[in-house]
Amino acid sequence: MNNKNRGKFIAFEGIDGSGKSTQIQLLSEKLLEEKIYFYTTMEPTDSPIGSLIHQIMTGRIKTDNKVIAGLFVADRLDHLLNDVNGIIGKINEGITVISDRYYFSSYAYHSIDMPMEWVIKANSQSSALLKPTVTVFIDVDPDVAVERIAKNRYQKELFEKKSRLIKVREKYYEAFDKLKDEEKVIIIDGNRSVSEIADDIWKEVAHYFE
Ligand code: ADP
Ligand code: TYD
Repeated sequence: MNNKNRGKFIAFEGIDGSGKSTQIQLLSEKLLEEKIYFYTTMEPTDSPIGSLIHQIMTGRIKTDNKVIAGLFVADRLDHLLNDVNGIIGKINEGITVISDRYYFSSYAYHSIDMPMEWVIKANSQSSALLKPTVTVFIDVDPDVAVERIAKNRYQKELFEKKSRLIKVREKYYEAFDKLKDEEKVIIIDGNRSVSEIADDIWKEVAHYFE
């Protein structure tokens, strides 16, 4: 299949609570109206590796952060390559894929505990297999993100969450700068209303579907 007939791959990125799921839902509705074939997915995935990650993240299994970073590498490769619903298979069939998180999440979240270069290298098979047509980064002030996810949490937990999200946001910017010659990234101001953000995202991506 030539490149023109391949599906597009749109990766959504942002700190927790940035509004990715909300915007993916709205973009899906738009693609449906436009009669574009698409498939939405997310990382961590619901594969056995993804479910191990979920169990670690909810504290049911304890391990080191380096192990988690390695599991995300494996989960991502399975996400791309598995025979049942792998992203590469979908794209080769001409289906557009939208993913809630991809390798920039690893670059941002794991480089807090280990060198970003290591994380980028560890994900090099994924980036060689499939780079996003475009990465949409929804940029939200960590204060706003924490307010959005605040319900039912303790004060201390929220404070820890905010200081971590400030670092994650900085790491995202560091990664975008490092890879600016290789990756197409669109930064969207996510501190606005849901519909303003959705309109902006559509303005930026509509031309991929003409
Ligand atoms: P993510 O998938 O990035 O974690 P969500 O889309 O789940 O983010 O949004 C987190 C919370 O913030 C949800 O309760 C959602 O309804 C709310 N939300 C999302 N976008 C906005 C927005 N632009 N303004 C106000 N609240 C929002
Ligand atoms: P999830 O509950 O899916 O949150 P969100 O709606 O914000 O995406 O949890 C995903 C968490 O996993 C989020 O805190 C980011 C983290 N993560 C990593 O640490 N590394 C990765 O490679 C990915 C894809 C996610």
